[in-house]
Amino acid sequence: MQIQAIQQSILELDADAAVVGIYEEGVLPEVVQQLADVTEGGLQALLDAGEVTGKLGEVSSWLSPPAVATKHLLVVGLGPQQDFLPPVAFRAAAMAAKRLAGKPRARVAFCLDSAWGPAAVESGVCGSLVGCQGQDLYRQEKNLHPFKEVFWQTTESSAVEQGRAIAEAVNLTRRLVNESADVIYPETFAEVAAQESAESGFELEVWDEDRLQAEKCGSLLGVSRGSDRPPRLLIMRYRGGEAEQPELALVGKGVTFDSGGLSLKPSEGMKAMKCDMAGAATVLGVMRAVSQLQLPQHVVGVVGLVENMVNGSAYKLGDVLRARNGKTIEVLNTDAEGRLVLADALDVARDLEPAKMINLATLTGACVVALGMDVVGLMTNNQTWCERISAVAASCGERVWQLPMFPEYAEQIRSKVADIKNIGEGRWGGAITAGKFLEEFVGDTTWTHMDIAGPAFAEKEKPELDAGGSGVMVRTLVELVRTGC
Ligand code: BES
Ligand code: MN
Ligand code: ZN
Repeated sequence: MQIQAIQQSILELDADAAVVGIYEEGVLPEVVQQLADVTEGGLQALLDAGEVTGKLGEVSSWLSPPAVATKHLLVVGLGPQQDFLPPVAFRAAAMAAKRLAGKPRARVAFCLDSAWGPAAVESGVCGSLVGCQGQDLYRQEKNLHPFKEVFWQTTESSAVEQGRAIAEAVNLTRRLVNESADVIYPETFAEVAAQESAESGFELEVWDEDRLQAEKCGSLLGVSRGSDRPPRLLIMRYRGGEAEQPELALVGKGVTFDSGGLSLKPSEGMKAMKCDMAGAATVLGVMRAVSQLQLPQHVVGVVGLVENMVNGSAYKLGDVLRARNGKTIEVLNTDAEGRLVLADALDVARDLEPAKMINLATLTGACVVALGMDVVGLMTNNQTWCERISAVAASCGERVWQLPMFPEYAEQIRSKVADIKNIGEGRWGGAITAGKFLEEFVGDTTWTHMDIAGPAFAEKEKPELDAGGSGVMVRTLVELVRTGC
């Protein structure tokens, strides 16, 4: 896909479709005013009839408007002008793009409001490229047809480039999540990371099974044992800061398929479990974006990649695993595998002595019960760090909410035979007992855990995004790195 900033008037654009924005209460951006002037009252009539109101989420097609070269105008609502912020630009552009992508269109122009500053343009561009991409990877007849060429009417050409880079990272994460588990497994995930590292210029170190054994990653290896596919651990390094500047570590759960193991999931709970590597895919997407944008920070990404399966060597209930940091873990449910993978991945990250750490994981159904499908659960050992992350997420329009980490929850994961066990007592507070488990492996590093089990994979499509992998948190983390952390 090609994308380009243009300054041409919408009246003479040679495009298959053009998207124009209007604010609520009939406030018209300059470009739309121009349009209203030449369309012989056509736009005003639509406004007067209440067909077009400018409400956020409203998308109306206007075919063959008079005096305009483009034969399809899409009028999209931007909401009240006084509430306008970059996340609104993202949503409005994404909704318009998704609607237009329903049919193949080669050239699509976005003329939303040429007065937008760089942040709004960047978000809008990102939305326009994410919205037109679907989960229909294996369909011969696509549901969504990404455009061949996209034009943005703006003078902010570097914001257009940055929006494109972030969108490509979001779409990479989404594609990896959407790809079936027979295509993306630990070795092939590592191959994709190698391509990304070569193209975007971050360093990549790949640990195979022997190395994982040598590194005593007994917790991760325990989960992996039941699979015929060997595990991997990836360390991705981008060094954009000054020599002694502190480093941010991003750690991802990469369970490429979660059958539950011997604590087997029922079909209903298993059918979307190709998504259980979304944390790892998010880390890879962010590494790609920060490298392409050449952000002035050091970032290291660590992802643990395994398949949670059942064969004759599979780990069993009652087994005790020894994690890399020396702690012993009694396994009382093989479906609580994500925390076991992260235990070692977090310890590897901790060895690199980052100043701050974030991990991402589709960790618990309990977090979805607590917060619903669209909100990321945050748990932390450092309130300031968590609040900083929340503020950045809000600025990107991504939903996060903090859960408490009171010490009482940790009593639930004490074991009689080992240092800890991998589940709490019963299901109550399950998102938090999982968070307390992870906390055992971060030492005193400033850390926040993001449970993305709800939003990482959508059952149903939204007006602005197809169902399937969402790429949630890619934009927030890129913004966090960009604004300094
Ligand atoms: N991958 C799942 C969590 C999950 C659930 C992700 C729904 C996305 C959507 C995780 O490995 C899991 O199975 N967790 C168990 C933990 C339990 C056994 C303590 C769960 O949530 O049921
Ligand atoms: Mn599981
Ligand atoms: Zn899992």
